[in-house]
Amino acid sequence: MFGIIGGTGLASIHELKVLKRELIRTPYGEPSQPLIFGSLSNKNIVFLARHGSGHTIPPHEINYRANIWALQSVGVTKIISVATVGVIDEAVKPGAICIPSQIIDYTYGRKNTYFDGAEMPVKHIDFTYPYDESLRKQIITSAQALLKTVVTEGVYAAVQGPRLETAAEINRLEKDGANIVGMTGMPEAALAKELNIAYAAICPMVNHAAGRGQSKDAISFSSINELCDNDVCQHMMIDVIRLIQTIVSKN
Ligand code: HPA
Repeated sequence: MFGIIGGTGLASIHELKVLKRELIRTPYGEPSQPLIFGSLSNKNIVFLARHGSGHTIPPHEINYRANIWALQSVGVTKIISVATVGVIDEAVKPGAICIPSQIIDYTYGRKNTYFDGAEMPVKHIDFTYPYDESLRKQIITSAQALLKTVVTEGVYAAVQGPRLETAAEINRLEKDGANIVGMTGMPEAALAKELNIAYAAICPMVNHAAGRGQSKDAISFSSINELCDNDVCQHMMIDVIRLIQTIVSKN
């Protein structure tokens, strides 16, 4: 069964026929909200809003371990994560989606593994390709059929937040090889891999990163949530929902 993790701008899916809501308790605490079980394109799925239903949980305080654990505990084997990002390349206009292929993790102080504590074995998962390639391909195929522009690969820089970056930090991320920047991609992807869940992301590119393009002088919103209070972002989310419906219907 598919699990969908919605980020900023996607706190719920109106097209979802909700069957029940259930608060799951995990050994790691509670997930961001009760899981929402429902039917989308006639398929059963589970939805979870990463920042909680009222968008109250900032990226560094999300209980990523509880979220992924809860989804697996109810039978989720594949996760599509939706996570807005800033785009680093000035030549790329915000307004399209990117399906990232790689990650560089700059986060710190987050609980980033299930393999800790005295009772757990030492385990190092392979993370060469952080996203599930088959799920990534499914997303790309459907996205190319539905949308005008799709960026089919990219290196996602996962930053700590909640503040946005300095222009120099963005220059450094670019030198490191990153194309997009966001605050929630890790440790989510690694935790899914630890639990053998196929995981891939859809990243709406909602703004130019700090010091670039339209964000040359400043990024003109105080919360990333505010970013989605505009037509461009809202249209992107409509596209993202259509895309998710198509992918889910084919499974
Ligand atoms: N930086 C970090 N996270 C983000 C951004 C950004 O510019 N846009 C959306 N999430």
